Amino acid sequence: MSPLYAAITAVAGWVPEDKLTNHDLEKLVETSDEWITSRTGIKERRILKGENLGTSTLAINAVSALLEKKNLKGSEVDLVICATSTPDMGFISTANIVCEAINSNAMSFDISAACSGFVYGLEMASNFIKSGNYKKIVVVGADKMSSVMDYSDRNTCILFGDGAGAVLIEPNEEYGLIDAVMHSDGSGKDLLHVKRGSAYPISLEQLAEEEHYFYQDGKSVFKHAVTNMASAAESIMKRNELSSDDIAYLIPHQANLRIIDATAKRMGVGKDRVCINIEKYGNTTGATIPLCLWDFEKQFKKGDNLVFAAFGGGFTWGSIYLKWAYDSE
Ligand code: COA
Repeated sequence: MSPLYAAITAVAGWVPEDKLTNHDLEKLVETSDEWITSRTGIKERRILKGENLGTSTLAINAVSALLEKKNLKGSEVDLVICATSTPDMGFISTANIVCEAINSNAMSFDISAACSGFVYGLEMASNFIKSGNYKKIVVVGADKMSSVMDYSDRNTCILFGDGAGAVLIEPNEEYGLIDAVMHSDGSGKDLLHVKRGSAYPISLEQLAEEEHYFYQDGKSVFKHAVTNMASAAESIMKRNELSSDDIAYLIPHQANLRIIDATAKRMGVGKDRVCINIEKYGNTTGATIPLCLWDFEKQFKKGDNLVFAAFGGGFTWGSIYLKWAYDSE
């Protein structure tokens, strides 16, 4: 029997209409379009506005567009995995809320792996497919990063935006996820985190100290990101005997253009084969890679070798090698 691969058979994305440009940020903090563009590659990001709208709003829109594209009903989906670091609530899972919206009673759960959440989710979906018990899996990466940003902190608020991207995963005998390299290292927790949770319940003291916002030691995280994203991608190339010429496209997590450039350089992949949309959305955490797939889908050809690479809080990092399963019409 041929091996069963987990193939991406459709992609969709959704971003809110409201834009926060570098020039808008110049009015909020002491910064400049020139500084942000040269240090990060970001020009604007999308912000979800509206009372009681959360990450589920982003995810539901992306997943609904995905199902519509494939003419599928929610009831035909076997599993929904939502990669998010900004769930609507402490519990229940955002995936549960997505399922309610699409009329599905499928198993559903969130995974928390920061910016590596989507690649973690793909690796999990691949193993569910290999079990033979799941035929249609939705993996959605979604984050409302504006909900944890301090818009008076120029070190962080310039970096992030809101968005969601979703993929449908189905079994395939020829194309799909070939290999995955996944890692974590919890010693990174002091360098990048949002301190809201059971060890840090919201208190008036915490609010007064403004400790409930996203925190990052940018310089240190930058070094770890460059080292680990590139080494995961390099090890997936080595393990699968892929030369840089064998790779049709690199789809990297979009945190900083300089991290992307360093990763592509270490892999020997030219800029014309690197999918980049950071200028439009900034870092949308769990959503960057599926939003990139959504933006670049038309360029991918059936059988293309794609490499994904991500790094995020935790730390978490990983790389995926897959063979693209379809030509988009
Ligand atoms: N506008 C203008 N100046 C700013 C600024 C801003 N938005 N943010 C920081 N600065 C200042 C700093 O205060 C510092 O000033 P100082 O030298 O007087 O102290 C100076 O610019 C340089 O800061 P530095 O931190 O060295 O900049 P950098 O080149 O490291 O870039 C980041 C900062 C955040 C863009 C970069 O470190 C980064 O991208 N880190 C990793 C981010 C990441 O990937 N996070 C998510 C992981 S998935």
